[in-house]
Amino acid sequence: MKKFLLSLAAAALLLPAQADEGMWLLPLIKEQRFAEMQALGLKLQDYDIYNPDSSSLKDAVVIFGGGCTGEIVSPEGLVFTNHHCGYGQIQQHSTLKHDYLTEGFWAASRDKELPNPGLTVTFIEKIEDVTDYVLAALAGNNDPDNVDFVSAKYLNELARKRVGEKYLSDHPAIAVEIKDFYGGNQYYMFTKKIYSDVRLVGAPPSSIDKFGADTDNWMWPRHTGDFAIFRVYADANGEPAPYSESNVPLRPKRWFKINIGGVQPNDFAMIMGFPGRTNKYYTSWEVAERRDIDNEIRISMRELRQQAMLEEMLADPAVRIQYASKYASSTNAYKNAIGSNWAIKKHDLEKVKLAEQEKLIAWSKKNCETAYPEALLTLEQIVSDRKDLRFRSWMLDEAIIRSIEFTKVPTKVDTLVEALKGRDKEEQQQQLAQLTTAYEAFADKNYSPVVDRKIAKIMLKEYRRLVPAGKQPAYFSVIDQQFKGNVDSFVDYLFEQSIFGSHDNFNKFLAKPTAKALENDLMLLFAHSVQQENKALTESLKGFDAGYAIAHRTYLKGLLNMYGNRANFPDANRTLRLTYGQVKGYDPRDAVTYAYQTTLDGVMEKEDPDNWEFVVPARLKELYANNDFGRYGLSNGKMPVDFCATTHTTGGNSGSPVMNANGELIGINFDRNWEGVGGDIQYLPDYQRSIIVDVRYVLFVIDKYAGAGYLLEEMELVQ
Ligand code: ARG
Ligand code: ASP
Repeated sequence: MKKFLLSLAAAALLLPAQADEGMWLLPLIKEQRFAEMQALGLKLQDYDIYNPDSSSLKDAVVIFGGGCTGEIVSPEGLVFTNHHCGYGQIQQHSTLKHDYLTEGFWAASRDKELPNPGLTVTFIEKIEDVTDYVLAALAGNNDPDNVDFVSAKYLNELARKRVGEKYLSDHPAIAVEIKDFYGGNQYYMFTKKIYSDVRLVGAPPSSIDKFGADTDNWMWPRHTGDFAIFRVYADANGEPAPYSESNVPLRPKRWFKINIGGVQPNDFAMIMGFPGRTNKYYTSWEVAERRDIDNEIRISMRELRQQAMLEEMLADPAVRIQYASKYASSTNAYKNAIGSNWAIKKHDLEKVKLAEQEKLIAWSKKNCETAYPEALLTLEQIVSDRKDLRFRSWMLDEAIIRSIEFTKVPTKVDTLVEALKGRDKEEQQQQLAQLTTAYEAFADKNYSPVVDRKIAKIMLKEYRRLVPAGKQPAYFSVIDQQFKGNVDSFVDYLFEQSIFGSHDNFNKFLAKPTAKALENDLMLLFAHSVQQENKALTESLKGFDAGYAIAHRTYLKGLLNMYGNRANFPDANRTLRLTYGQVKGYDPRDAVTYAYQTTLDGVMEKEDPDNWEFVVPARLKELYANNDFGRYGLSNGKMPVDFCATTHTTGGNSGSPVMNANGELIGINFDRNWEGVGGDIQYLPDYQRSIIVDVRYVLFVIDKYAGAGYLLEEMELVQ
């Protein structure tokens, strides 16, 4: 008996996933996690969540657009997602006269809902384990590069073959996809149904859905109402169809009930969605690589760029508007990298991974397995061998390509050059018109040559300081040869001389276009040289891919064997996952405790009418002053805004439904705390939190703030 207990304890020690850790694949939930979920408070059966043979909660979870998640909340195809997920669409519909970003938008009736060409909502119809099928295909496959087993292109061809081209052409809205899991040790096929008539129904003003903007991004306590509402339309048979006035709201298989009973600390919470990418199975060497190369370069380069950008934005309101979105997307990944390195250092994730490797090595010795320790040696070697290339590639990307906007001037000018050398005037005009379009796309309304010039000088100097001369794009040598190494004069010269340096220059060129001017254009040569260097680096780095993929697969196979098959979750890869945990605050620092819920009081505390990030709309202040919260308020008279939970989420989980123990919607996931983003590498139980907009705040804004309560009539509210 004692021995039995001991071995049980040993087995528990070997179990790799900590409580609340994990982004679980639905077909494996029952076996892998269901007991823990019930112990934590889940009241549903596994088949309520995922049922391969009939409809279940998973049918109410959708991919929203390309990279977000959404959920169906009514029998008439209404979808909730984040505002930042529908940002592009809302911006498209906005004009100076109807600025839906700033003012918000509420369709007063169905015919006022706005179509969004290109936007899709995707349902997952079927998930199948196709490991045997893929392995059989791979066995008969002649793959010189040895990477087919993780190649999206190859796997998707297999998926198409499996269902047959006839099936696909008979069902144009169905797409199939095979994805590799655990580094290519398992394969699942996803059958998807894609709806392409998706209309905008409602969006709060930016002062609610972007409240706190960049300052509060990745931060808890948070006070953002980051949500937007769309509706899926279908043809008369409920099938996907391109936009048409005759389309009707989709009658979905499933929709979420919405629970307005509120959340308490330690309540069970779970999230389904489409997390993009995690690196749970990094080796210690990859953790160090990520810390010292990727994150380090990203942080230091963006710091420089953003500082310059911000100076210009603060000095000129026009520039502030032009660069708001560029600045926001730059700081989003920058802050993430800071949080990532903070966590890697604070929790010594290098050592955590090393310990796992050593466990596997010891286990392999005992079991006479040689392949796993060998795979680890290979991974260590690869990381060491690619160091210089990786450094150069990250430097080129962060310091030059992402920072200097004129690396994006039109460079595909061969046919125009040919035309200018010839005599065909019509062809010349046509080619010039194309160049003009490309130039206008580059120097669009959000481009400021003043800002670009300033940033280019700073970044080019820094790049040249850190990357040795022989390892820079070839064209950069002119800086030394013709400008005595003076980057400022070089950049000034580029802007003065290049066709693309100003509208004047471009117009002068159009008035007298010559092949020579184009062929010798300095910005074009600069951009071209950067592209060449980028291509060369990418190619060289590719040389490591096969070796890496094979060793990584072997390492994971070792872990799966050691821990018992399926004891751990596969890294995120944009497939449907479930994560569960509890509603809970955290202690960020010594003697500081964060509560699990924020309220409108905090919005008022943060209010700053002089700072666009913290403006509070008058109507919201009025509701606050009158305590006019309707049925959405807390019993203590306050109005809830956001809450946080220990669920394991990452980028792509934005817009995901957050459910209670009964599978009812209690919030919409939209962010994480910066102290928790290291969870992409290793879940951090004391720090990792998903940031969620409370569904009561969502309903309050729709109903009380916007007066769009008619939308609630089609939803199913429970308490
Ligand atoms: N940090 C969240 C995420 O990674 C929200 C981003 C919204 N964008 C922003 N720049 N505030 O996507
Ligand atoms: N904000 C992220 C997203 O847009 C979510 C996260 O990174 O936690 O998907």
